[in-house]
Amino acid sequence: MSSSNYTLIVCALFVLQFLQMVIGDNNGPLYHICSTTSGNFTPYSPYEHSLKKLMGELQYKTPPNGFGMGSVGQYEAHTSGLSLCRGDVTPKDCMACVVNASAEILKRCPNNKAGTIWYDRCLLKYSGNEFLGKIDNQNRVYMWNLNNVSDPRSFNVETRRLLSGLVSTAYGDPKMYANGVRDVEGSQKIYGLVQCTRDLSSGDCKSCLEGAIGQLPNCCDGKRGGRVLSGSCNIRYEIYPFVGV
Ligand SMILES: *[C@@H]1O[C@H](CO)[C@@H](O)[C@H](O)[C@H]1NC(C)=O
Ligand SMILES: *[C@@H]1O[C@H](CO)[C@@H](O)[C@H](O)[C@H]1NC(C)=O
Repeated sequence: MSSSNYTLIVCALFVLQFLQMVIGDNNGPLYHICSTTSGNFTPYSPYEHSLKKLMGELQYKTPPNGFGMGSVGQYEAHTSGLSLCRGDVTPKDCMACVVNASAEILKRCPNNKAGTIWYDRCLLKYSGNEFLGKIDNQNRVYMWNLNNVSDPRSFNVETRRLLSGLVSTAYGDPKMYANGVRDVEGSQKIYGLVQCTRDLSSGDCKSCLEGAIGQLPNCCDGKRGGRVLSGSCNIRYEIYPFVGV
């Protein structure tokens, strides 16, 4: 990603997060990326037909255990996708999120052959290029709390300890998910979450999450909350509980 794109995303997120604080909408999309390098499709094309079928598959495959993937069509009409719900989300809420995500991404990326959309409770990604089983290093988004902590140095160390511990649990877990809390100085707590898409091997899950932790200095060091979201894994920490809400 070029540095100008990077700045654009960072600025957009700044505004986005501010708006979310004001509006308080927890169910709307956090962010989406329409691929500009994977080509376009036209309305009523075989690709569009495959894509709609894929979205339907993701809607019924994902809710029962929180992850679904599939491929539809051949040659020019071939598309693959996955959707992942946050590890604690019930099948009912997962279904609502994936249904919304699949409709919303088609609306926001009306003719892009690839796109990714992130919500608090789910992620959905599709592409005409085969991507299942590979770590996505291209689609990456940062979000952070605008407020600083008072002691960034030790806070950053504690945050990494928490998240690294969660990574050790998650990559061996069938759901590739872990959340937890760590007590820090002054009766403060840090809450964290890590999760991978389950098309990855457990080794790739580990390296995706470690890569995401390695990105924290680019967005989140010294901030009261932060997230690194990618198409393959995501991490989040806050000083308040956010899982199960
Ligand atoms: C998805 O949900 C948001 C609100 O949470 C709503 O504004 C939007 O219309 C929904 N999108 C679709 C395509 O249903
Ligand atoms: C947080 O710290 C940064 C860098 O030190 C500073 O630019 C920013 O204004 C601070 N934010 C708040 C809300 O105090």
